[in-house]
Amino acid sequence: MNQQGMKELAGTGVVDALVKSGMKLGLGTGSTAIHATRRIGSFVAAGKLTGIRAFATSFQTVLECEKWGIPLYSLNAPELGGKLDLCIDGADEIDTENRLVKGGGGALLMEKLAAYASASYAIVADETKLVENLGLAFPVPIEVIPEARLPVSMALEKLGAEVFLREAVRKAGPVITEHGNLLLDIRFKDRIDPARLEAEINHIPGVVENGFFTRIRPTVFISHGDGKLEVRK
Ligand code: 5RP
Repeated sequence: MNQQGMKELAGTGVVDALVKSGMKLGLGTGSTAIHATRRIGSFVAAGKLTGIRAFATSFQTVLECEKWGIPLYSLNAPELGGKLDLCIDGADEIDTENRLVKGGGGALLMEKLAAYASASYAIVADETKLVENLGLAFPVPIEVIPEARLPVSMALEKLGAEVFLREAVRKAGPVITEHGNLLLDIRFKDRIDPARLEAEINHIPGVVENGFFTRIRPTVFISHGDGKLEVRK
C-alpha cells in the first residue's frame, strides 16, 4: 500500500470506529484528516449520520465540510458550548508516548483549541509519522504575531533551536496564517523535553501557540504499508 492509501485507511478507519450520530466533532487539517472529514461527509449526505455538529480547524476543512453539508459552528456557538465530544486530526510526528508535533499545514492554533476542548482525541497518521524523539526531524511551528518575529526568534535560539521563517509558495514573502500571524519553524539538534518546551515557548511574549501537543494523549490510528490499521492508546 502506498502512502496515499495509508492516509485514507487511517482517516476512514477512525470514523468507522468512533463517530456516532449526535456527536460534536472537531475536524482537523491535512492530507490524512481530510479523509475522515470526507467519510463523515459522505455519511451525513447519505443520512447515515445525523445530528452532527462540527468545528473546522482550518479553511481547508471548512471547504470540505461545505461540500458535504456538514453543519459547522464556532466553538463559542451555543450548539457547541465550547466543548466537543471527539476531535480527529493528523500529526507530523508521534513519539512513543503519543505526544505530538503538529502544524505542518499551519493550522496549529485552531487544532490545539479543538484538541484541548474535546472529551476524546484521535490522531490519524501513517507509519512514517512515528519517531523516537520529537523535534529533531520535522520542524515544530510557532505561531507569532508579526511584530514579535525577531525577539521571538532570538528567544527560541536561546532555547537551542534553529529558527526558519516559513515562506509562502506561489506568493512572495512569508506564510500568513488564518489569524494574520507568522510561522517560525524550529528544529533542534539534540534531544529535547517537549512537555517543558510546550509550556516554555508559550511564555515568550508574542508567541500565540506552538506545535508541541503533549498535555493530552490521543488514541492514535496508525496505518501500515501492509494494510493493517494499528490503534495505539
Ligand atoms: C496541520 C497539521 C496536520 O494535521 C499535519 O501537518 C499532518 O498533515 P498530513 O496528514 O497532511 O501529513 O497539523 O496543521
